[in-house]
Amino acid sequence: MKVAVLGAAGGIGQALALLLKTQLPAGSKLSLYDIAPVTPGVAVDLSHIPTAVEVQGFAGKDPSAALDGADVVLISAGVARKPGMDRSDLFNINAGIVKNLVEQCAATCPKALIGIITNPVNTTVAIAAEVLKKAGVYDKNRLFGVTTLDVIRSETFVAEAKGLNVADVKVNVIGGHSGVTILPLLSQVEGVNFTDEEVAALTTRIQNAGTEVVEAKAGGGSATLSMGQAACRFGLSLVRGLQGDANVVECAYVDGGSEHAEFFAQPILLGKNGVEEVLAYGDVSAFEANARDEMLATLKADIELGINFVK
Ligand SMILES: NC(=O)c1ccc[n+]([C@@H]2O[C@H](COP(=O)([O-])OP(=O)(O)OC[C@H]3O[C@@H](n4cnc5c(N)ncnc54)[C@H](O)[C@@H]3O)[C@@H](O)[C@H]2O)c1
Repeated sequence: MKVAVLGAAGGIGQALALLLKTQLPAGSKLSLYDIAPVTPGVAVDLSHIPTAVEVQGFAGKDPSAALDGADVVLISAGVARKPGMDRSDLFNINAGIVKNLVEQCAATCPKALIGIITNPVNTTVAIAAEVLKKAGVYDKNRLFGVTTLDVIRSETFVAEAKGLNVADVKVNVIGGHSGVTILPLLSQVEGVNFTDEEVAALTTRIQNAGTEVVEAKAGGGSATLSMGQAACRFGLSLVRGLQGDANVVECAYVDGGSEHAEFFAQPILLGKNGVEEVLAYGDVSAFEANARDEMLATLKADIELGINFVK
């Protein structure tokens, strides 16, 4: 397996690259690309870690050497939030970066599974889909918005609130990846009962967890280490699916034929071709059904913005 990280010299990219270097299956290749000149040095640094994962680093304007032969591409290139910014404030810069990088993927590794981390994910995934369609290589089963950070935050916060072993807590998060479009399905968490007040408070905390980090870092960026872990979990799941593991389920933001929106985060079964099956997200509470319905106008507008950007 060859996994490429684009934006690899950044806060997320370096954390992700470190985790992939130590956790990818033996024999894998890890390819790092960033416009920052330090990128080959990041690869040299990682190459001194004794695992059977070969690392290469590329800097400059052309990512094609990094993308050549890639099975999985994880994109975290772009700018991150500062205090007072909303994910949509990143659109003006990041839309063009994602468009350009996905054009390069379409030309060099059109069959790769592409995971988009760069915000605003609700919109950048729609941009990626339009770019791939224009290039004639779009396969909806191979494009993912990475929403795993919402899942791991939900699992952490539920375990903390209820005094549970976090390894036993599983939470599906549906919708999108910003504010009210992030909807953790707390009513489905096994063996746990929440009061209405607890559900409202936890849902709000999960939706604003990114801002919690942005404010705590006080101008130093947004979540990088927890996002590195989330992206590594998702990237390894993509690899396990590609290698034939038939039991890999993750929530991700996909073009999965949802009745709610063109792109919608929900549980998916991963396999040799990316999305093997889009799974039903199951029964939801009245609170969740209402939150889901209320988010749709925002989510659809975010998607429309991406489609129009490319058109
Ligand atoms: N999906 C999520 O849950 C999630 C969570 C946190 C952050 N993010 C997003 O991830 C992105 C990266 O965040 P970060 O904290 O790593 O930012 P960062 O500024 O630390 O790193 C971004 C990197 O992208 C590189 N870059 C910029 N333009 C590029 C291009 N055209 N080609 C290649 N590389 C390029 C920069 O040189 C930099 O190294 C941001 O958009 C942020 O909002 C997403």
